[in-house]
Amino acid sequence: MEKEIIALEEEFKQDSHSAITQQDLEALRIKYLGRKSALASLFTRLPTLSKEEKITFGRRLNVLKNQITAALEEKTKGARGSEAPVDLTFPSSDIQRGSLHVLTQVSLELCTIFEKLGFCVTEGTEIEDEWHNFTALNIPLEHPSRDAFDTFYLDIPEGSENCGKFLLRSHTSPSQIRIMHDSKPPLAVISPGRVYRPDQVDASHSFMFHQIEGFAVDTGITFAHLKGVLLHFAREFFSSDVNLRFRPHFFPFTEPSAEVDISCFACSGKRPQTTDQRPKQESQKCSVCKGKGWLEILGCGMIHPNVLTACGISAKKYKGFAFGMGVERPAMLKYGINDIRLFFENDIRFLEQF
Ligand code: DAH
Repeated sequence: MEKEIIALEEEFKQDSHSAITQQDLEALRIKYLGRKSALASLFTRLPTLSKEEKITFGRRLNVLKNQITAALEEKTKGARGSEAPVDLTFPSSDIQRGSLHVLTQVSLELCTIFEKLGFCVTEGTEIEDEWHNFTALNIPLEHPSRDAFDTFYLDIPEGSENCGKFLLRSHTSPSQIRIMHDSKPPLAVISPGRVYRPDQVDASHSFMFHQIEGFAVDTGITFAHLKGVLLHFAREFFSSDVNLRFRPHFFPFTEPSAEVDISCFACSGKRPQTTDQRPKQESQKCSVCKGKGWLEILGCGMIHPNVLTACGISAKKYKGFAFGMGVERPAMLKYGINDIRLFFENDIRFLEQF
């Protein structure tokens, strides 16, 4: 039996040397540890031996069995992972591509439209002081927008040079002030960025949102220039056949001022011609404009002389127009998004659609 055990040891050494893959090792396990293995048949012969031989060979066989088991385990560990050679030409599994946030995309698209008309893009600052956010924009001290209910004031010492308290800007209009203060006309600038207001969050309100401010200052600027620029923008961004409606409005920083609506790009602003005077059911109305035919998109006007003066620009020599609009609203209109919160929840299933 001793000779057979030594031969089996040798054979295993040789065989295990050439076993590499998991399959090789499984075959080896069956051959040396399986029920029909040479080792198993040596064990079955033990009862036929004398008492001393039983003890000696019983031990020898157990030691061999343990050695084979340990060697196979060791090799199996090494074989894991090196199972198949790596095929570098094999197509990879699905790669998740990132993309710009939909609001960044819309903001860039809006800026590009104005850049093509010759406007420069400049970002203002998100932390402002009262002078830039209100005073220089001709917003009186008692104006409700200065109230802490409508503006986030920062809990840090007041700014220098009578600039008052620091705050998170509540609109992008202070960018006008910074630029007009620091540079000379002619100016044509577009300024995108985040703005903050302590609003209750719901489907159409957020305490942080985005705006784009635009303005131009030069000699001889008129309201007609403003209309031309905005009509071009609306036709580029929404649809080539939209029209604009200017409704007289009041903003402290522009005079005259207007709110601007576009004709609904979904139903072309055409309310169905009908002799039926009964009120339309909700379901029959255009889902974009809710049957109104118009969509409010921005505020604008001719820059108030007080604003030019505050920035050190002669209001006698120069005129300017300005406009400001949200970014979320055009994005929601364009892509049929019905809840502003979707922009900020970072749900990948929403974001990856853009
Ligand atoms: N700042 C205004 C707002 O946040 C928007 C606006 C209206 C900006 C008229 C302008 C403008 O430049 O002329 O509601």
